Amino acid sequence: PEAHELEAKNFPELKNDLILRAARREDVERVPVWVMRQAGRYLPEYNAIGEGLDFFDKCRTPALACAITLQPLVRFPIDAAIIFSDILVILQALGMHCDMVKGKGPTFPQPITCREDIDALNADVDVHESLGYVFKAITLTRHRLGGHVPLIGFAGAPWTLFAYAIEGSGSKTFSKAKSWLYKDPEASHRLLSMITDVTVRYLVAQVRAGAQLLQVFDSWAGSLSPRHFREFAAPYLVRIASAVKAELGTDAVPMICFAKGAHWAFSLLESSDYDVLSLDWTMDPQEAQRATKSRMAFQGNMDPCAMYGSDDTIREEVCRVMSLFGTRGHIANMGHGMSPDMEPRAVAAFVDAVHNFSSRQRVY
Ligand code: CP3
Repeated sequence: PEAHELEAKNFPELKNDLILRAARREDVERVPVWVMRQAGRYLPEYNAIGEGLDFFDKCRTPALACAITLQPLVRFPIDAAIIFSDILVILQALGMHCDMVKGKGPTFPQPITCREDIDALNADVDVHESLGYVFKAITLTRHRLGGHVPLIGFAGAPWTLFAYAIEGSGSKTFSKAKSWLYKDPEASHRLLSMITDVTVRYLVAQVRAGAQLLQVFDSWAGSLSPRHFREFAAPYLVRIASAVKAELGTDAVPMICFAKGAHWAFSLLESSDYDVLSLDWTMDPQEAQRATKSRMAFQGNMDPCAMYGSDDTIREEVCRVMSLFGTRGHIANMGHGMSPDMEPRAVAAFVDAVHNFSSRQRVY
């Protein structure tokens, strides 16, 4: 990188702000589209880059993270880039060790097992020191994007990170993480609150580094009962959005909340400072719109498994899903991310179908 590409100023002028306008429910010429996990193992060029480096080493190398972020944009006419990183870097910054184990996914050899483990975490971590590599990658990518499309920054939601910290990996039941909520709600709140505070500092710094839109991933929200979501997930999600906006200004950056599986959460998030709710494929867009009194924009929500279908099947599914949203305040995406065994041509078909569908509609 050249010296000026590491400075978070004099960024190229943005040429395509469709996704920012859609997030604010403003007029758009067509519905913007991007794909969760658009950079990843389904792309041969992803598997070929940074050979010999493990996943987190790639995240920690800004030039590589930037190159990976740009890979899907070379192939597909998508309307946003998302910085290549991972939600788990926050737990690393708090002092936990995490390995990306082939065939198993992220693994913490020493998960949280008692109150003392929580007290030992580095709550006062300086995010610039521990996660400076993410901000460098964001700044570099924002320059290299040349204003082509906006750059999305992201973080994991407190409940989802709490679940990883305690389970030590993914889980079907999240029984260890959930048992804390029943056995020691006080300590649970302490850990959730600690994660929230670091996440706010992290997201604010991402925006200062050049991120233009933020998404918070609560991938495991659906493992909670509605009561527990209300007590242990929603307040922290809400706090993240309000604290980020209090720090940066209300209009500084639109924010997307993806509470996967949390069907009953629409009305809880409706009064929050999020601009966009991201819906998984089991959610009904029209029900979500009713529950939020049409204040919010929506993202989603094609079943990712439709990507296994033919181009025609994908096209039909895109038309079906998009007609449920209408065109104002919609960001086209899937209900979750790409999987390694999906084909790149499916993303091409998906993006093309979104373009075709929305150019046939009156958007204003
Ligand atoms: O295009 C993008 O979206 C890139 C950025 C990105 C990654 N992870 C890259 C990644 C984002 C936004 C994430 C978020 C993330 N990470 C979430 C929330 C989104 C979701 O999918 O629900 C979660 C739960 C994680 C934790 C995590 N990291 C998992 C479950 C895995 C997969 C492990 C496996 O082996 O299947 C990862 C690894 C990961 N994160 C990869 C990528 C490209 C693949 C790792 C590799 O290269 O080996």
